[in-house]
Amino acid sequence: MMNASHDQNSSNKVPGYSIIKPLKGQKALVTGASSGIGKAVAVALGQAGASVVINYRSNEKGAAEAVKAIKDCGSEAFAFGADVSQPADVQAMFKAMFDAYGTVDILVSNSGIQQDAAFDEMTLAQWQIVIDVNLTGQFLCAREAVKEFKRRGVVPEVSRAVGKIICMSSVHEVIPWAGHVNYAASKGGVMLMMKSMAQELAPLKIRVNSIGPGAIKTPINTAAWSTPEAEQELLKLIPAKRVGEPEDIGPAAVWLASDESDYVNGTTLFVDGGMLLYPGFEDGG
Ligand code: BGC
Repeated sequence: MMNASHDQNSSNKVPGYSIIKPLKGQKALVTGASSGIGKAVAVALGQAGASVVINYRSNEKGAAEAVKAIKDCGSEAFAFGADVSQPADVQAMFKAMFDAYGTVDILVSNSGIQQDAAFDEMTLAQWQIVIDVNLTGQFLCAREAVKEFKRRGVVPEVSRAVGKIICMSSVHEVIPWAGHVNYAASKGGVMLMMKSMAQELAPLKIRVNSIGPGAIKTPINTAAWSTPEAEQELLKLIPAKRVGEPEDIGPAAVWLASDESDYVNGTTLFVDGGMLLYPGFEDGG
């Protein structure tokens, strides 16, 4: 049953941000923003004052909903269909963004998929597509963003940083995941890609960080929480005893994109209800 605070979360309101608008004047691109975590993050950035490009691959309807939600709170937004694993699509998307908004200040590389299989039954196609979207897609988008950050340099009235990149990772950048070897490998890769980029780019005032969500109710993991039995099993892995909502992630992204986190470089902010706290030891082990 939903309680009052859950209802408030679900209305997509990020308390405070709609008044303070910490991202006013900034241009953001969120990949995979037509559903789940990406959509909630895009709306939160819009509420915080950013103009937002909503990337989607096939869910045009969800992308249109995100655009509307952002416009309803007074910010600009448009949707752009592109497959982040394809260099030509990624370049066309950034070109459309530069034509519309002139530059990019914030990239949230969020697109991600799962193709689960027992290890010895995993096909090369299942391995490859997960690596292509979850890891290579983040590389391709970040590369375009960094080229533009370097070209433009810092604009002090917009942000102390030249640019901010937020990689959507997962608790599975550290928790091994049987039956999901391709996915865990992609997120482990995102972790060291993010840290290596942060090390290389911090001297240029480019900040690169990740968000590591735990179990969040989105289309990617519906089977894990959509029946009471499945949800009970899942809650054994979550000390906070609640499955997260996409709106739990939005404020974390706003903070990592804002100057409030200006000294934060190369870190993963886990938003997981404590999933990383070895919940098997909850009763003393
Ligand atoms: C996965 C979800 C899973 C969660 C916690 C996420 O990265 O996409 O399917 O529920 O990690 O295991």
